[in-house]
Amino acid sequence: MSGIPDSMHITEGLTKLVVPVAHSARGPGKRQGRVFYNEQMKFNRDLTIMLLNALDLSGKEILDSMAGTGVRGVRIANEVRKDLEVSVNDRDTEAFRYIQENARLNELGNCHALNSDMRCLLSERSFDYVDVDPFGTPVPYVTSAIEGCKRRGILGVTATDTAPLAGTYPKKCARRYGARSIRCPFGHELGLRILIGYLVRKAAELDRGVRPILCFYADHYFRLYVGLPESAGEADRSLSQLGYIQYDPETGSRSYTPERGSEMTVGPIWGGSLYDRSVLDSMDVNEGLAERARCEKYLETWREELDVPYFFDNDELASRLHASPPPIRRLLERIREVGSASRTHFSPKGFKTDLSLAELTEIVSDIV
Ligand SMILES: C[S@@+](CC[C@H](N)C(=O)[O-])C[C@H]1O[C@@H](n2cnc3c(N)ncnc32)[C@H](O)[C@@H]1O
Repeated sequence: MSGIPDSMHITEGLTKLVVPVAHSARGPGKRQGRVFYNEQMKFNRDLTIMLLNALDLSGKEILDSMAGTGVRGVRIANEVRKDLEVSVNDRDTEAFRYIQENARLNELGNCHALNSDMRCLLSERSFDYVDVDPFGTPVPYVTSAIEGCKRRGILGVTATDTAPLAGTYPKKCARRYGARSIRCPFGHELGLRILIGYLVRKAAELDRGVRPILCFYADHYFRLYVGLPESAGEADRSLSQLGYIQYDPETGSRSYTPERGSEMTVGPIWGGSLYDRSVLDSMDVNEGLAERARCEKYLETWREELDVPYFFDNDELASRLHASPPPIRRLLERIREVGSASRTHFSPKGFKTDLSLAELTEIVSDIV
C-alpha cells in the first residue's frame, strides 16, 4: 500500500504508479481532487518517451517542472534508456508526496522529487530538458522555462487553451498571445502556429532561437518540443520565419505571406516546419508504450506531412461545390498528378497541398 489516502495503483507504459482514485479518464481532464492525473494524456507521455529516446541525452539533466503525480518525469527516469538525472517537481505538497512515492515504487536512483514553484527553481538552476505542463495556458511559465534551459536545451510545452488559440475567443488570443486568430477549417493548425510564434518572440527577447523538433495537436491540446539555441543570430533566423495567413472566409482561399497585409491576415504565426525530420526518422515506437498503435499512426502521418502552414478540408471543398466529398485517397492521387499532397495529423478529413484553392476546386469538381 502507498500510505496515501484515496489513492490506487496502476501501470502506465512500463511504470508503476500511485494515482488518486478520483482522476480523469477522458477529455481535457477536469481537476477532481487536489492532485491531477489524466489517463487520456498517456499518449502525450508515450510520445515524450519516444522522443527523448531518439535524442542524444546521455548524462543530461531533465526537469518535469509541473509534474502532478510525477507520472511523466517518473516514466522518463524509468523508460528512457539513457543515463539521465530526472528532477520531478510540483509546488503542491500533496503532489510532492505522490512524486516521492512513485519514484520509490519504481526503485529509481536517478529520479529526484522536488517541491518548489517552478519559477523559483528555474531562477536558480538550469536543465537540458524542461517540461512545462500547466492547466490551460503556458504563458505565465514560458520566460522562466526558457531561462531555465541550458544553452542547447530543449523545451517541452503543453497548452490546453485551444479555444483562444484556434479562433473561438479571438480577443483572448490577442491579449494572451499578441496574435490575431479566427475560426476557420484549419483552426487547430493556426492555433499551434500562433503558439510557436509566441514562443519565438519570447525566446528572441532572451537572444534564443526556436527550432521545432516535434509540434502537434491531439485530442484537446497542443504539444511542442523545441530546441532553444542561444545566439542573437539564431533568434533573428527564427523571427524571420514568422509570417501571416491570408484567409478569405467567403471563398475559403488561403495562403502564407511574410507580411501583415489587409484585414484578412491572421497571425503572426510560425511559417516553418513543425518537425525536425531527422529526429522523426530516428524515433521508434518502443515496446511497452501505453498506446503503441496510436503512436505508430501519428509518427507515420508526421513523417509524410508536407511543410505547408495550413491545410484544406475535404468536406469543406465539397460543400462549397454542393457535392458529397470524394474519397480522400482518390483526391490525393489526382492532386499528385500535378502537385504535392499529404494527409495531415490535424484532421482525418484534412490534407496539405501546394496547389491553390482554384486549382483544387477544378480537380474536386472533376471527380465529384
Ligand atoms: C496539468 S497538472 C500536471 C500534470 C502532469 N504533468 C501529468 O502529466 O499528469 C499541472 C500541475 O502544475 C502544478 N503547478 C501549478 N503551478 C505551478 C508552479 N508555479 N510551479 C510548480 N508547479 C505548479 C499544479 O500543482 C499541478 O499539479
